[in-house]
Amino acid sequence: MLTAEQNDRLVRVGPGTPMGQLLRRYWMPIAGVSEFDTLSTKAVRLMGEDLVLYKDLSGQFGLVQRQCPHRRADLSHGMVETEGLRCNYHGWQFNHQGACVHQPFEDTAHPERNAKARVQLTAYPVQAKGGLLWVYMGPQPVPLLPDWEAFSWDNGFTQVVLSEVPCNWFQCQENSIDPVHFEWMHENWGNRQRTGEVRFGATHLKLDFKEFEHGFTYHRIKQDTSEVDQAWTVGRVCLWPNGFFLGEHFEWRVPIDDENTLSVTWKYTRVPREREPYVQASIPTWWGPVQDAQGRWIDTHVMNQDFLAWVGQGRIADRSLEHLSASDRGIVAMRRRFFEEMDIVAQGGEPKAVFRDPSRNVRVPLPMVYGDQITQSRTCDEILAHPTLKLFYSAYIFQAGQPTAVRDMVSHALGMEMNEFDGVVIPRKA
Ligand code: FES
Ligand SMILES: [Fe+2]
Repeated sequence: MLTAEQNDRLVRVGPGTPMGQLLRRYWMPIAGVSEFDTLSTKAVRLMGEDLVLYKDLSGQFGLVQRQCPHRRADLSHGMVETEGLRCNYHGWQFNHQGACVHQPFEDTAHPERNAKARVQLTAYPVQAKGGLLWVYMGPQPVPLLPDWEAFSWDNGFTQVVLSEVPCNWFQCQENSIDPVHFEWMHENWGNRQRTGEVRFGATHLKLDFKEFEHGFTYHRIKQDTSEVDQAWTVGRVCLWPNGFFLGEHFEWRVPIDDENTLSVTWKYTRVPREREPYVQASIPTWWGPVQDAQGRWIDTHVMNQDFLAWVGQGRIADRSLEHLSASDRGIVAMRRRFFEEMDIVAQGGEPKAVFRDPSRNVRVPLPMVYGDQITQSRTCDEILAHPTLKLFYSAYIFQAGQPTAVRDMVSHALGMEMNEFDGVVIPRKA
């Protein structure tokens, strides 16, 4: 149980807050690169700041404050130039560093004043990696963007899924170190929702949580597994500060502001051996709905189930009212780490897991439970004969709303057709 004041420290992400200061030390994914195949600007909100992400005519990405410093027009309606973005109201143009480089009327009528030299807007660096656009909003020097090994896996089809979840980011991230909810939310309750059957999966017997340089791992033994299972020996990764790594996919919980979170998923599927060598031309990005047309929370898919749990905890979960228990040891350890790291930043120090050394930022591996299943070359028949692996070859079991066009891209890449079975889409050889 936390005091109201401690709760506040964990959840508030504005620029002047301790958590806002800490999270600004890390690169955050906020969009898919492929969104800019059809867009040149996109309004985004990150950690309480309203911003515009854009791709200029030379293909460079930039991120600037949303309001034009002239008379506050909305720069998300701006037009991109060879370098940077131009306001659509009176034509002021800004480069990637936020410097005003052109004031059409002033430069024409009063060039001697060079008034633009006094105009600067807030701008942040942007980098593309893994089909995602990442931004850094913290102090100089800018750290390295983590080069997770998964981003270099070949012979795979990757997709990016975005959703906006109307609750605070920290309760979303606590889910990354909560093994028991899998049994109850996704197996027992998920089954009940899908089939109506009263049926319970293997129960958890033993848990362990460990910290390592990139976050925490959680370890489980269930009734149907033992101490030799990789779920115990390797564990799953609660990735510092706001991610979750499950092998074939990452999830990030990116704070939009104190009351809204952008869920970002990066999902890799290895193509069957028959399709090798496979090179993906472009990583699609799609938006997953969180509610149906009637406004009901979607509960059919794994992450949708998580979303409704997080939102159900309240817009900002009140941790002064909770009753933590033995299953929450990982959550306690993670909160403690966050409190300590906020103090380190307040004292001018460097927090956990900031990448600075280029030689240590090359294809950085993370622990993976049964990682060989994810990256190993297998034939289509081997995949379809595998009891669990075939599920990873479904259209998309994690979240509702995959567009037909993306499903078709997956089918084509894998050489497989997707069929519905027991409420879950399973593949079949095309
Ligand atoms: S408000 Fe942007 S140029 Fe005038
Ligand atoms: Fe979950």
